[in-house]
Amino acid sequence: MPSPTPHRVLVATRAHEGIVAALRTLRPDLEYRGAALTDVTPDDLAWADVFVGFERPPGAATMGRVRWVHSTGAGVDAWLVPPNLDASILLTRTPESFGPVIAEWAVARILAFQQQLGALADAQRNRQWAPRAIARVAGTRALVVGTGDVGGAVARALHRLGVQVTGVSRTGIAPNNAPGNAQDHASPFSATHRVEALAGLVGDAHWIVLAIPETASSRGLVSRDVLSRCRSAVLLNAGRGAVLDESALPEALDRGWLRGAALDVFAEEPLPPSSPLWSDPRVMISPHCSGRTTVDGAVSGFLECLAAVERGETPRWAVDRARGY
Ligand code: GLV
Repeated sequence: MPSPTPHRVLVATRAHEGIVAALRTLRPDLEYRGAALTDVTPDDLAWADVFVGFERPPGAATMGRVRWVHSTGAGVDAWLVPPNLDASILLTRTPESFGPVIAEWAVARILAFQQQLGALADAQRNRQWAPRAIARVAGTRALVVGTGDVGGAVARALHRLGVQVTGVSRTGIAPNNAPGNAQDHASPFSATHRVEALAGLVGDAHWIVLAIPETASSRGLVSRDVLSRCRSAVLLNAGRGAVLDESALPEALDRGWLRGAALDVFAEEPLPPSSPLWSDPRVMISPHCSGRTTVDGAVSGFLECLAAVERGETPRWAVDRARGY
């Protein structure tokens, strides 16, 4: 627990002005500095008790006097790779729920594939009257990897469209599927399996949706071997690029293991101009914007964690570093 109670808050994100303005109104008793991540100075880190931001400022060898890092992103992978955040520093993540917005991102892409929106738009630009076979989403099968806030929301949205949804999670138990849970009947997952079963499940899925954080155990999970077991699936990734062997995607598409991919996250971001994915008509790219942190969400999330710290409690959103989220 940061001690004494944090007083100096450094907000280091693109949206720092809005976040600091809101915090100054809601908690005028604290001191604030705001900066874009790349503008954070060693003096800022020597001044601050709390750092609010998505990742470590570039080139910062240490976090100075910072005793608490509050991640404005749900994924905290950037803090758990070398140089790892000192174990004595509290790490919390934003409680903001990105599930609903990422579910809409996924549904938009799945409908785009079934409705052949890309090909129809191309034909329209060429003034071509070229009817395409439009397929229903209802009656298809999805495999949702990750059954937390994001995976659960994706599963509910697909279930409502008549998709049969299977879940994959670390424990094999989706939160709504927990034995004895009164909401059992409301679970959008027809079954949930442990992640070890992944390779045996992908062959049955029309849609494979990756909604997991990057951790030591998820890195490279969707390997070439797993991709080779897919049968003309569409792969959607809204988690982290490192969960997938991105270099195997062109082969997976050419060999028909995948019929398409919708990617929001990449091994290297921004995706380099040299990547073959940019020009592949089977691939839909979005630049890591499926579920962006909002100013309101960042502010209320930080204040919720701050209230716990001020009560001397560990915030509910403290990261379990061994687990990685
Ligand atoms: C975005 O990728 C996040 O981690 O919130």
